[in-house]
Amino acid sequence: MKFIVYGAGALGSLFAALLSKKHDVLIVGREKHVEAIEKNGLIVEGLSNGIFHPKTRWDGSRYELIILTTKAYDTKKAVEEAVERFGKLPFLSLQNGLNNEEEIASIVGYENVIGGITNHGVTFIDYGKIRHAGYGETVIGEMDGKISNRIRKIAKAFNEAGIETRISKKIKEEIWRKVVINSAINPLTTIFKCKNGAIMKYKSLIREICDEGIRIARKEGYVIDDAFKKTMEIIEKTADNYSSMLQDVMNGKRTEIEEINGAIANAGEKHGIKACYNIVLTKIIKEMENVGT
Ligand code: PAF
Repeated sequence: MKFIVYGAGALGSLFAALLSKKHDVLIVGREKHVEAIEKNGLIVEGLSNGIFHPKTRWDGSRYELIILTTKAYDTKKAVEEAVERFGKLPFLSLQNGLNNEEEIASIVGYENVIGGITNHGVTFIDYGKIRHAGYGETVIGEMDGKISNRIRKIAKAFNEAGIETRISKKIKEEIWRKVVINSAINPLTTIFKCKNGAIMKYKSLIREICDEGIRIARKEGYVIDDAFKKTMEIIEKTADNYSSMLQDVMNGKRTEIEEINGAIANAGEKHGIKACYNIVLTKIIKEMENVGT
């Protein structure tokens, strides 16, 4: 298949690298990252190892899918830019946060949106170099729940490239579960400045944060009662990774706290639930963004 990975930071680069073994992949990211890849290849260390060679310049040919891996707060701008550069193509969001699919659909329509989540842990080491620090499942699904030909084709292409992928008929529920998982792992690892595995000892706190998200998800119509169990599993599987939020704070970048914990708190407010944990965590991380590490 022909994929564009748009907004390739750590996670997008992992997908571009693995997919490029079997498919035609164009990587779009920050210029310094792209230049380093052109010079030395895309270097992946850790669980996946090697030097990969996705395309870095567009040859004008038509691609089949844009895999969007930008930060959630950049979604709208990124989709507008991508459409202007490559034309109107289907988008698969593999981003963190709650409202990416709706934002993409506001530009290209729901028929061009595929929802997704992935639980790989990836650290950005330097331009052109990433570390695959934790394995995780990838789940994709059409927004209307149909098992379409294109979703089958994408899942097959991912699996053939070694990216374990499952199709879901309830992708929005998967996204809610992933956001609740992130709502515990990301701010806690950022506050305690530690790898994912080190928060294992705060089990009861993690349970309470997850329970708050689970309760709000249910009000939205999504039953994700296993979210705490899944969170603990992902902490174990990505124990050696620095969460994307901690990496952002360490690099002086804006975090996705508003799109993760802030979005859960906003949904809670809609249903008359004061999401105390999510509100406090959002405030603490916003302070950390201002002050830095
Ligand atoms: O945002 C992240 O860092 C990732 O979603 C995850 C799975 C928590 C791994 O660090």
